[in-house]
Amino acid sequence: MIYILHPSAGAEWAQQLQQALPDRTIAAAPQPVDRRAVRYLVCWKPAAGELAGFSGLHAIFATGAGIDQLLSRDDLPADVPLIRLTDAGMAQQMLEYVLFGVLRYQRDMDHYAQQQDAALWQTRPPRLASATRIGILGLGVIGGAVAQGLARLGYPVSGWSRTARHFDGVDSLTGPQGLDALLGRSDILVNILPNTAETAGLLNAQRLRQLPKGAAIINAGRADQLDLAALVDLIDKGHLRGAQLDVFPAEPLASDSPLWHHPKLLLTPHIAAATLIPESARQIADKLAALEAGRPVAGLVNRSRAY
Ligand code: NDP
Ligand code: OXD
Repeated sequence: MIYILHPSAGAEWAQQLQQALPDRTIAAAPQPVDRRAVRYLVCWKPAAGELAGFSGLHAIFATGAGIDQLLSRDDLPADVPLIRLTDAGMAQQMLEYVLFGVLRYQRDMDHYAQQQDAALWQTRPPRLASATRIGILGLGVIGGAVAQGLARLGYPVSGWSRTARHFDGVDSLTGPQGLDALLGRSDILVNILPNTAETAGLLNAQRLRQLPKGAAIINAGRADQLDLAALVDLIDKGHLRGAQLDVFPAEPLASDSPLWHHPKLLLTPHIAAATLIPESARQIADKLAALEAGRPVAGLVNRSRAY
C-alpha cells in the first residue's frame, strides 16, 4: 500500500498517483489505514509524530526537492530509503524565478519602481548581461539548470558545489577558496543549496561582506543558510543593493515581520519552484519501479551528506 501524508493536497496526490500506478492500493491521510501494511509513504511536512508506526516501509518519497524538513525529525525511520524529487518541472520554474530577479537588478527595475513612486523621470546608465556577473551556490539538478540557462543568455556565470561540475559557459568552483572567489565576483548571488549541517549559516555577515559593493542576493535555497539580520544591516549600510527572498526561517512569514516593509527586499511565499503534482506523481511511479527492479534511483538521499 502507498500512503500519502500531505497537509493540503492529499486527495490530488492520491488521484494522480493512482493514475500513474493503477494496480496499487493508494490512500491519503486522514483516511485511517493499518500503518504496518504501508510499504511506501509519500509526504512533505507530516505533523509531529505522524511518521510513527509505519513498521513495514520499503521507501519514503518526498514531494519536494529539499528533504531537510524530513531529515531533522526524530520520527524518520533511519534505515528506510528516502527519495526526493529530481527536477519534475522545478528546474524551469527556478530558472524563471532567478531570471526575473537577475533582469530586475540588471535592468534597474528596482530603482525605476522607486522612481515611479516619486514621479521621477531619470535614466540610469545601461548595464549589459555580459557585464553582470552571476554567482550560483549549488549546481545540482536545479542549480545546474539555472546556471546553464543564464550562461546561454550571455551572463558570466560562476557556480559553487561540493564536487566540480562541468557545464558550458559556467566556471565551476569548489571548496572554501572557490567560495571566496565566487563571492568576490558576484554582482548577483543566487543561493540554491540544500540545507545541511555544512550549508546552514553559510551566508553569514563575513561572507556577505565579501560580495562586491552594490551586489544583490536571490535566496531560493533555505532560510537557515542566510543571516537575515546581517543581510538587512548590509543593505541599510549601502554595501548590498537588495535581495529577493523566497524562503524564511518560519513559513508563512509572520504578518508583523518588518521584512515585509523593507523597500529593498522583494519577498515571495516559497513559490520559486512549486511541486507540480501530475509530473511529480509520474516521477515517483518511475522511481518506485526502478527501486523494485533494483535499478539506480535518481534522488536517493545520501543520509551522511544529508542531501
Ligand atoms: P541537488 O541535490 O541536485 O543539488 C545540490 C547542489 O548543492 C549540488 O551541486 C551539491 O554539490 C551542492 N552542495 C551540497 N552541499 C554542498 C556543500 N557543503 N558545499 C558546496 N556545495 C554543496 O538539489 P536540487 O538542485 O534538486 O535542489 C537544491 C535545493 O533547492 C533544495 O534542497 C531546496 O532547498 C531548494 N529548493 C527550493 C525551492 C523553492 O521553491 N524555493 C524549490 C526546490 C528546491 P554536488 O553537485 O557536488 O553534489
Ligand atoms: C522543495 C521546495 O524543496 O519546495 O521542493 O523548497
